Amino acid sequence: MKVTAIANSNIALVKYWGKRDEKLILPNNSNISVAYDKLNTITTVDFNPDYSKDVFILDGNEITEGSVLKKTIEHLNIIRQRANIQTKAKIASKNNFPTAAGLASSASGFSALAFAGSKAAGLNLDQKELSILSRLSGSGSASRSLIGGFAEWMKGEKADGSDSYAVQIAKPEHWPEFRIIVAIVSETKKKVSSTDGMNLTMKTCPLYQGWLDTIEQDLKNVRKGIAEKNLTLVGSTAESNCLKMHALMITTQPSLIYWTPATLEIIHAVLDWREKGLESYFTIDAGPQVKILCLEKDAQEINDKLRLLQGIKKTILCGVGGEAKLSKNHLF
Ligand code: PMV
Repeated sequence: MKVTAIANSNIALVKYWGKRDEKLILPNNSNISVAYDKLNTITTVDFNPDYSKDVFILDGNEITEGSVLKKTIEHLNIIRQRANIQTKAKIASKNNFPTAAGLASSASGFSALAFAGSKAAGLNLDQKELSILSRLSGSGSASRSLIGGFAEWMKGEKADGSDSYAVQIAKPEHWPEFRIIVAIVSETKKKVSSTDGMNLTMKTCPLYQGWLDTIEQDLKNVRKGIAEKNLTLVGSTAESNCLKMHALMITTQPSLIYWTPATLEIIHAVLDWREKGLESYFTIDAGPQVKILCLEKDAQEINDKLRLLQGIKKTILCGVGGEAKLSKNHLF
């Protein structure tokens, strides 16, 4: 059966950085994200006895080697095992944004694959099961992309991870004025993956416990801020949470410095705009791109100002996106 799914990428407002179980992809701390309405992956999966091997086409090109292919096939194997089938599959996947630019293409990609793949294999999983399946790809944030809106991925307590999945804490319609501006400063692939980076931090960073000790308060603030539609609370907490995560990265050995001069240029600009009354906050994942949180009323002005900065290659102005969905528009 051929099935197509579309999932939005997301940005964490309270990050996860470190796993309590590497195999099951269980995080050390609960975390909260918001989905982008303009950055998505569409994936078609077809299990067919006519295929003699798995074929993976990404953005129009067949992928014949590398870690993305390996992860994709491993994910298909999990699905096949659950569905008790051996059939090979053809998968085509398309991102509507640059894949290697650190915009969480694996989050949207693997949640679209989990959704389309499980359905195509004849499984009928509910949202909780799909969120769990999404993270088993290796990209933990995929569990949040499946859910969309404002989503919390609960760290859970159980060793088998059955209580570690994402739930939607607010729908996109709850806060239609919320905006995320993605500022792309570099399109080169990052040197150290999130998985390798967070493992290194857990092993070598002297500040790690301090990070964990402050997470509960950040989660409370962001949950409250979202419920009250309070940009000041959500933005200031997200910004300080991001800086704490980068403090961990910088003090990991060897040091993980994902920022470039352009990243810092934007950070200074946002601080300056805020001082002058233009309310905006920044957040950054394991890469150089900066995401700016603001409200609709200021978004165009901030976007125009951003484009005047030197290091900016491109900006994408997004609102809040929804949950992953099935589609009838197959890619092949
Ligand atoms: O989705 P992963 O397992 O590759 O890790 C994502 C890590 C961060 O993007 C830095 C933080 C987060 O919570 O999304």
